[in-house]
Amino acid sequence: MLILDVLSPLLLLSILLPGYGCRAADIPEDTTSEFSVRLYHRLQAAGGQDNIIFSPLSVAVALGMVELGARGASLEEIRQAVGFSHLLPGVEFSLLQNLTTALTDDDTHYVIRFANSLFLQEGVTFNPEFLHLMKKYFRADVETVDFSESSAVADQINNWVENHTESKIRALLSAEDFSSVTRLTLVNAVYFRGSWKNQFRPENTRTFSFSKDDGSEVQTLMMYQQGDFYYGEFSDGSQEAGGVYQVLEMPYEGEDMSMMIVLPRQEVPLASLEPIIKAPLLEEWANNVKRQKVEVYLPRFKVEQKIDLRNTLQDLGIKNIFTNDADLSAMTDGKDLYIGKAVQKAYLEVTEEGAEGAVGSGMIALTRTLVLYPQVMADHPFFFVIRNRRTGVYLCECKYKRISRVMSGRLLYITVHVHLFVCAC
Ligand SMILES: *[C@@H]1O[C@H](CO)[C@@H](O)[C@H](O)[C@H]1NC(C)=O
Ligand SMILES: *[C@@H]1O[C@H](CO)[C@@H](O)[C@H](O)[C@H]1NC(C)=O
Repeated sequence: MLILDVLSPLLLLSILLPGYGCRAADIPEDTTSEFSVRLYHRLQAAGGQDNIIFSPLSVAVALGMVELGARGASLEEIRQAVGFSHLLPGVEFSLLQNLTTALTDDDTHYVIRFANSLFLQEGVTFNPEFLHLMKKYFRADVETVDFSESSAVADQINNWVENHTESKIRALLSAEDFSSVTRLTLVNAVYFRGSWKNQFRPENTRTFSFSKDDGSEVQTLMMYQQGDFYYGEFSDGSQEAGGVYQVLEMPYEGEDMSMMIVLPRQEVPLASLEPIIKAPLLEEWANNVKRQKVEVYLPRFKVEQKIDLRNTLQDLGIKNIFTNDADLSAMTDGKDLYIGKAVQKAYLEVTEEGAEGAVGSGMIALTRTLVLYPQVMADHPFFFVIRNRRTGVYLCECKYKRISRVMSGRLLYITVHVHLFVCAC
């Protein structure tokens, strides 16, 4: 039995929505938005009461790396599920390359890094064409290791991940993740750090009650500002989604990347809004929010999640690669490889941006009564995506439902890792 570990730390900064109808001819259109949203719904169905954070783009890139080594049903299922089946065979690699390149274009306003790496078992011959294409499309570093030295390999890969996520993701893997049957690990890491275009002033941050879905309240630090954002109020016309809900898009410096928040009314649980979230609707929101002055109350928070993608991907129709029937014969001549594991870990931190200001002690009006401008008060669970406004790619999809430990960081960070472990039988 051989095991190929495809280890992919992905940064799911999902930049999904084609923004504001101004896509330049050379900007690729993302075709994976449907996949991104289906992933979210699967995770939501499986995840119960937890926060959700993941990077659909990272998952797509990791699967693209697997596709390079796959044939037959293994290949077709991925193409179908991710949204590539309308493309000519192989065009998706160029698309993924262009989407990630478009993201990294503007490095003056924010930091975004994609890193891919292949760790190969020493002594196993991999198809040179596979390695060549992996470098060409995914700029993957290739290293050989001895997977039977499982704790040394875990350390090496963890170091690599740590190095490519500014140390935000640590100890992703352990010795138990590897064995003498491991043949390859694909790792994909994404790191994003943006500053708000309109920053929150730390002295306006106050302790505030956040109402969880079960009605209980927890204290959290709530950031506040009044500023120009993209805003809209929507309703699906029925009571299904709890009536009117708010959509607020807050750009990062440079305006290419943004966080788009969807917030139901306070008495409406997020769970009643979630079912209507679909790729076309996200696009509609993005196209219909209007620039205007808004009062924003947003928690300062950190979310972190490790997801076992195996079941989720299987639910979305990617089954064959996880079975003995998998055909990964484009990787090596042997036909006996399959994916043993698929893991993604994502980390996101949202703060005011700016100096690590002490939390102020003066008073600001935290009231719903005096409304001069639309007020977006995220003091109850909300959904958001971090997207690229030019390509529409979703870097990250997230649901924030409860308070976790508050960090004293200064910027917004997202790091995501997707790991696919390929095994051989
Ligand atoms: C990716 O970009 C290259 C160079 O601009 C272009 O030739 C190619 O057609 C693009 N691929 C896709 C799938 O859009
Ligand atoms: C991580 O970065 C440090 C410092 O740049 C370097 O010494 C080390 O070799 C790197 N480790 C890996 C696994 O790339």
